Amino acid sequence: AEMDLISIKEDESLPEAKKIKLGKIQDNIGTRVVVQGWIHRLRLQKGLGFITLRDGTGFIQCILTGDLAKCKTTHELTLESTVTIKGVINKLPEGKSAPGGVELKVDYYEVVGLAPSGEEAFSNKVQENADPSLLLDQRHLALRGESLSAVMKVRSTLLQAIRRFFAEEGLLEVTPPCMVQTQVEGGSTLFKMDYYGEEAYLTQSSQLYLETCLPALGDVFCVQESFRAEKSHTRRHLSEYTHIESELGFIEFDDLLTHLERLITYIVKYVLEDPVGGPLIKQLNPNFVPPQMPFKRMEYIHALDWLNEHGIPNEDGEKFKFGDDIAEAAERKMTDTIGVPILLIRFPVEIKSFYMQKCADDPRVTESVDVLMPNVGEITGGSMRTYDHDELVAAIKREGLDLDSYYWFTDQRKYGTCPHGGYGLGTERILAWLCDRFTVRDCSLYPRFTGRCKP
Ligand code: 4AD
Repeated sequence: AEMDLISIKEDESLPEAKKIKLGKIQDNIGTRVVVQGWIHRLRLQKGLGFITLRDGTGFIQCILTGDLAKCKTTHELTLESTVTIKGVINKLPEGKSAPGGVELKVDYYEVVGLAPSGEEAFSNKVQENADPSLLLDQRHLALRGESLSAVMKVRSTLLQAIRRFFAEEGLLEVTPPCMVQTQVEGGSTLFKMDYYGEEAYLTQSSQLYLETCLPALGDVFCVQESFRAEKSHTRRHLSEYTHIESELGFIEFDDLLTHLERLITYIVKYVLEDPVGGPLIKQLNPNFVPPQMPFKRMEYIHALDWLNEHGIPNEDGEKFKFGDDIAEAAERKMTDTIGVPILLIRFPVEIKSFYMQKCADDPRVTESVDVLMPNVGEITGGSMRTYDHDELVAAIKREGLDLDSYYWFTDQRKYGTCPHGGYGLGTERILAWLCDRFTVRDCSLYPRFTGRCKP
């Protein structure tokens, strides 16, 4: 009852508080600040209260003493409530630890939005060891957790790093359409939609559009959602993922491979050097080893030998033979055993897409590449493109695709063709590798996969 009488009042004689985000606490030591955020952790003990405040840019430990620690409002605080807090930021004395090595001595605070207690309490909604599908139902809340939010921050840093690399290499960013009428990676994973009475699809890859940009804009890239109606539940397949794709004109296959090595090495370097991303990778993936150029290169045909020598069977449980797909399980075993990034090259025509250029020295195989990373497997797929008009038309027919819908794609080969190639990187796959996540689902804000399109 006594507690009820204590009300929180601001001491008007104190210096005016400076409004800051928690990312800037180090620049404001000794200053009276006003910070706003969510109660991430809360501990009340005799005459003392500890609030760990979170605002997305960082965390700070706030100390409540005296009346502030005793009053009813404080005792009714809950996790995830929003508060405005004023006080002075101090360096922690030796031997104590808190985020950033500082604490905020609170002199005044206000509740902005009180979160529920009891049954509806945040800790009941998002339990760390809960069933993954229950956590996915509560994704809007689960995102506030330390690991998921850390991955999302690394994701942002990664996309910045990619754009920086492409800018340095002179590639221009474009935004191709998501609603399309052509397939790129096979009919079995197409999401069909009704487009004003016509059949259309959600794009599987922006590649064909990027190819049309080369004559207009030079080398290009895009960061665009791709959609795949994958039927199987695997830890590395999403129905919607962020596809980083680029297309380079007047190059040869070897140029494509060295470009890919540089791309991966540099973006990792940039992310590790970043003040936000770097420390988070150390936290999420302490044993991460940055890749070194040049990467190991391995021909498909030699991968088959390796798999057969190591007793890893194909999907029918037999020895691998030329033309077999190296499915996820076998690919993972090989990559994890070898333990370094691999550029797996020269896949057979019959297991790759229609647009791939055949090797001049062996027309059974293509100028194609998959980049394989330990613990994840394939993170990138690319190739040189068939640039001869008639050969491309024949390939489209061979695959049983409707030539008419590809008129714009084949037309380019008539109006000044050139050798060119490109690739697609799965953002969530690179993140799973960088952040050591078990599944790409942990690397997407709101993952979509078979049976899940909410929240
Ligand atoms: O190997 P894919 O299918 O290649 C293409 O789409 C080419 N047209 C790209 C190009 O050359 N422009 O896909 C490329 C990458 C894969 O290596 C993988 O990282 C990712 O996209 N990916 C997926 N990521 C998550 N979920 C899925 N269902 C994915 N399918 C492909």
